Amino acid sequence: GSWYDADIDHVIISETQIRDKTAELAKQVSADHADVPDGLLLVCILKGAAMFMADFARAIGRHGPPVELDFMAISSYGQGTTSSGVVRILKDLDRDIAGRHVIVVEDIVDSGLTLSWLLRYLESRSAASVEVVALFRKPEAVKVPVPVKYVGFDIPTEFVVGYGLDFAERYREVPYVGVLKPEVYARS
Ligand code: PRP
Ligand code: MN
Ligand code: MG
Repeated sequence: GSWYDADIDHVIISETQIRDKTAELAKQVSADHADVPDGLLLVCILKGAAMFMADFARAIGRHGPPVELDFMAISSYGQGTTSSGVVRILKDLDRDIAGRHVIVVEDIVDSGLTLSWLLRYLESRSAASVEVVALFRKPEAVKVPVPVKYVGFDIPTEFVVGYGLDFAERYREVPYVGVLKPEVYARS
């Protein structure tokens, strides 16, 4: 077994569900952007979206348009379990996005604060279009409504970890999404 097995209370989204949904999202995004002239620019929001980006980009590669990858690191959570609303850029885009068709690749939309800030930021840089794909969304937690064109799973407002989602930087490598046992929070 793995070190984290004892910490997970239950699984809410399995590896198979993640794999199937990623293929489905990639198919939709590919169909909607089949003729985009310079391909799509996928912008991964580190660190949470790293796992999804890697799998989603390869899924697009099977049938979709060419993609380029860029990465931004922004943080609104720090060490806690709730969003502070304070967004910091830790790593900016490497290249100019003017005129590009951008797909923001996020692991989860929770309060929406990170994305609403980010969409304004990307639009101010004159992208031709900016759309969002998020693998997970907590619909009951939304504080700022954000237009997320492609959503994988709506999940309950519980603190979940795995497939990129962390608790104090740990559990990102868990291949499924699960709920931590309450005593794990009490420990920190
Ligand atoms: C998490 C998650 C999303 C964001 C969603 O990132 O990966 O990016 O919070 O929350 P929101 O909708 O309430 O803004 P976090 O800031 O924890 O950084 P990380 O990706 O490095 O874990
Ligand atoms: Mn994140
Ligand atoms: Mg986090």
